[in-house]
Amino acid sequence: MGLNILISGHTSGIGLATLQRLLNKGADVTGVARRKLDGVLTGLTQIQADLSDKKDVLRVCNSLAHESFDVVILNAGYNTIKPPEAYTPEEIMDICTLNFTAHAALLRACLPGLLNRKGSVIGIGSVSGLEVEKWNNYYGASKAGFHHLLDNMFEQYRRQDLRVTSIIPDIANTNFYQHQQFEPSVEPDTFITPEAIAEVITGLIFEPPAYVPAQIVMRPQRFALNRKK
Ligand SMILES: NC(=O)c1ccc[n+]([C@@H]2O[C@H](COP(=O)([O-])OP(=O)(O)OC[C@H]3O[C@@H](n4cnc5c(N)ncnc54)[C@H](OP(=O)(O)O)[C@@H]3O)[C@@H](O)[C@H]2O)c1
Repeated sequence: MGLNILISGHTSGIGLATLQRLLNKGADVTGVARRKLDGVLTGLTQIQADLSDKKDVLRVCNSLAHESFDVVILNAGYNTIKPPEAYTPEEIMDICTLNFTAHAALLRACLPGLLNRKGSVIGIGSVSGLEVEKWNNYYGASKAGFHHLLDNMFEQYRRQDLRVTSIIPDIANTNFYQHQQFEPSVEPDTFITPEAIAEVITGLIFEPPAYVPAQIVMRPQRFALNRKK
């Protein structure tokens, strides 16, 4: 039997590259995102939900209450890069819910099954959650909280064999920048590909090291983020 895996944000970027590898390995995957991938993808069950909406988050948590996952990949995320005063209170709440609260609730819903199966949690954080920089505000704070929560979950449940890893990427060339004023440079040494991150995720699942990497920070050789013309 294949592994039973939950992934949020399976429709694009890092999540989609990961999904393709998981299905190729014969895993049963449940994907949660606002959109649905078209076509028949053997092994994939899709749940449509807006994870910035509290009601949707609770609906998904309830629907997963009797599921048991071997691996939970907390990946969905979004930001708009701008100064703090440019956000509306509603945008702030959406960003914090999507990047922190929804994943805390999903993880809680999956915890009994994960502990029962001695499973793994892999969260996609961000270097924005490590660095205090101008314009790195609500998203960065949500991701910092997310890293902290995952570290705490490991500490809490390590004796019950739960493995927990935060993968913390710098700039990756995905649709993350589609609605932003900024975008990655085209120089290949200035961004990480979603495929490279997916390789790290699937390596943790299918060839887990004897130790638990608590945090894996991935950076391109050079930093560049360009303002769109
Ligand atoms: N790209 C980067 O430079 C970068 C750097 C550091 C960390 N990250 C993190 O990497 C993770 C994956 O992002 P990505 O770069 O692969 O971006 P992406 O290509 O934009 O993919 C984001 C995924 O999250 C889902 N998503 C977004 N908003 C959602 C919502 N409200 N409800 C449910 N699902 C939602 C999207 O699906 P739908 O649109 O179908 O809902 C999509 O599948 C995120 O956590 C992001 O914060 C990215």
